[in-house]
Amino acid sequence: LITPTWDEDLAVPHPPVMFRCEFDAPGDVVCARLYATAHGTYTAEFNGAAVSDALLAPGWSAYRKRLRFQTHDVTPLLVAGRNAIGITVADGWYRGYLGWDHKRNFYGDRSAVLAQLELTRADGSIHIVATDPSWRAGRGPIRESDLYMGESYDARLEAEVAGWSTARFDDGGWEPTSEMPLNRELLTGQVGPPVRCTEELAPVARTASPATGAVIFDFGQNLVGKLRLKQPKVGVGETVTIRHAEVLSGGELCVEPLRTALQTDRFTGSGDVAEAWEPIFTSHGFRYAEISGWPGATAEDVAALVCHSDMTRIGWFSCSDPLLNRLHENAVWSMRGNFVDVPTDCPQRDERLGWTGDLQAFAPSAAFLYDCASLLDSWLADLAAEQDDDGGIPFVVPNPMPPDYRFASNVPAGWGDAAIVVPWVTYLRFGDVGLLERQFSSMAGYLDACITNHGPDLNPELFQFGDWLDPAAPPDKPSDGQTDPLLVAGAYLVHAADIVTAAAEIVGRVGDQGRYAAHATHYRDVWRRRFIGDDGTFVNDSATAHALAICFQLLGDDEAQAAAGRRLAELIAAAGHRISTGFLGTPLVCDALTTTGHLETAYALLLQRECPSWLYPVLQGATTIWERWDSLTPSGEVNDPKMTSFNHYALGAVVDWMHRTIGGLSPADAGYRTHLIRPLPGGDLTSATVRHLTAYGEISVAWRLSDTEFGTDLTIPPATSAVVDLPIAGWQIVELGSGQHSFLGEFEIRPLRPTALPTGAFWSAAERVSLSQTRF
Ligand code: BGC
Repeated sequence: LITPTWDEDLAVPHPPVMFRCEFDAPGDVVCARLYATAHGTYTAEFNGAAVSDALLAPGWSAYRKRLRFQTHDVTPLLVAGRNAIGITVADGWYRGYLGWDHKRNFYGDRSAVLAQLELTRADGSIHIVATDPSWRAGRGPIRESDLYMGESYDARLEAEVAGWSTARFDDGGWEPTSEMPLNRELLTGQVGPPVRCTEELAPVARTASPATGAVIFDFGQNLVGKLRLKQPKVGVGETVTIRHAEVLSGGELCVEPLRTALQTDRFTGSGDVAEAWEPIFTSHGFRYAEISGWPGATAEDVAALVCHSDMTRIGWFSCSDPLLNRLHENAVWSMRGNFVDVPTDCPQRDERLGWTGDLQAFAPSAAFLYDCASLLDSWLADLAAEQDDDGGIPFVVPNPMPPDYRFASNVPAGWGDAAIVVPWVTYLRFGDVGLLERQFSSMAGYLDACITNHGPDLNPELFQFGDWLDPAAPPDKPSDGQTDPLLVAGAYLVHAADIVTAAAEIVGRVGDQGRYAAHATHYRDVWRRRFIGDDGTFVNDSATAHALAICFQLLGDDEAQAAAGRRLAELIAAAGHRISTGFLGTPLVCDALTTTGHLETAYALLLQRECPSWLYPVLQGATTIWERWDSLTPSGEVNDPKMTSFNHYALGAVVDWMHRTIGGLSPADAGYRTHLIRPLPGGDLTSATVRHLTAYGEISVAWRLSDTEFGTDLTIPPATSAVVDLPIAGWQIVELGSGQHSFLGEFEIRPLRPTALPTGAFWSAAERVSLSQTRF
């Protein structure tokens, strides 16, 4: 691990450091691999060519415990004789700004790089070129680069470093480097996909700032990435400044919600017409970009580059309602924008952190839309690495705070539960038992921490986020919703114990299985005694309380479950079919209604257009999921600019219900070896199609509905089977094998029946029901 020897002002962002070395290659090399990682984010070049199109490598992990490295095949770039390697390292997550306190240098204050080139020769021997103090360090045209703040580039400095990563360059004026200590046990290969630019968007409109006349481009889509300037035409020493924002206010960029994240890039001209320029080591959340210093810039001069972890898309949904299609598309865009190596809360303001609760809510949707299994596998390894000795979880993973920092709680319900829910959902959706095996002690450790912190009763003293952002909560107190945070915590404790019990069975931990099953029984009982009155009604009469009770099966018997469903439907109707739930109730409410026979109420809630509702933002022109139901008020004001984002996936978790209930496709067994096909049309929908690419191949369900007839075409992939329950009069549930199947019959929705799932599956009776009827 090497670092430059120069001194730096640690209080401000720095020009990225350019490290270079030259070496002579033996003549008989058959394979050349470059392994690299950095304290900061890096790009690597070999003989003047980029070694990959990955951005923001090595990504963000629990740096104090895990530092990922990448492997680049550079065989085609190697030449006989003299070669050169150049690696540029920017501040990145390692020592750039992180969090809302405008602080930097969380992990360290020196940029550093570790690289090893392995040249395999014809006789199998390996020749190694590695970072050592013979490498030289310099700086180039990037004068400053920070993830939150943006990047500044001075094209006048290009000439000085032209050819710097080739063997023709003279680095006589460059500085020496020195070795830094590194614990090699931290090193681990990257398993998730790299961040890449995956799409380019052209502006859809061009306006001008009323105050300054600067050009403002609208890309028609809130996205995450950066702008490319195609041949920026600026004089020598003149600077083009690009600012980015998600919304406009009075025709100007509304930057208040960004808080201290400046999201500003600068390009200073050298007099020559530059080729395309784009910042390298930063990313912004924006729909609008304002360009000053380039008055004639036209739509043809710019493009927005969409950047995120380059996961394979595996899930699609569409239906006859264009508003629902846009809602679905918004969730897809919010996932793209918030899976930039780490699954984050939001991608624009001074946060962009791996908030556990947000992912806990969105994981089932994420696992349907994109193949995020390896990314989550890596993130869960970080989560386990960040876990406290007593099993508690920090609010955010990775956790940049110093080791002695303590969060208000390390067992916040619905947030810390990501330790249990995310591996479980990932297992159910992708079928990798190995992941459960790897995570089991982290899952059980978190549950143990909850049990210890709560004691035999539920502990009201523990800090909780509660049903965060319930619309009834005051804007400045998002945890102050209608649902008692202790009720939420108790419900999650039971849910967590149920999952760990099921996971223990799957990974063969028989003793743990019995122990955690006993805890689940105990806390169900405690929860009921505390939150259900003698007459069977809820002490806390909120929609979230009922949704949790139904989905987490807290109530004991079918009649109590049915009664809770009736009350939930009443509460939803009394609220005018508007949303009355927050981060934790919202992902469950449609399932709770559907499971208890109130499908039309679920549809009425989903199709509501007045605020708060899922479709209100869509009608306001949203192109991503918002943090608050009313991030933009009906009069077009930005609601509470101190905490509002226009790109927060958590409340988009309803798309998972859309896939499973409208589309009718759920896994009936881990990894879709068997699936449940049960479309439940409602509202005024006349058709829907859902497709999912599983490890076995594509499953699809396409249905259409006329006044009286329901028709469907199904595709079931090889080596799988489906339990099929169709809304057709007289339909008997059948199990179908692979192939194409079509059915047509008289439309009739019958009350849901427990579905006969194949025997021999891992599930206990209760889990089979929850698997087929609730959010899994
Ligand atoms: C984040 C959330 C997060 C919450 C926790 C916010 O600032 O953006 O999405 O879960 O804090 O309270």
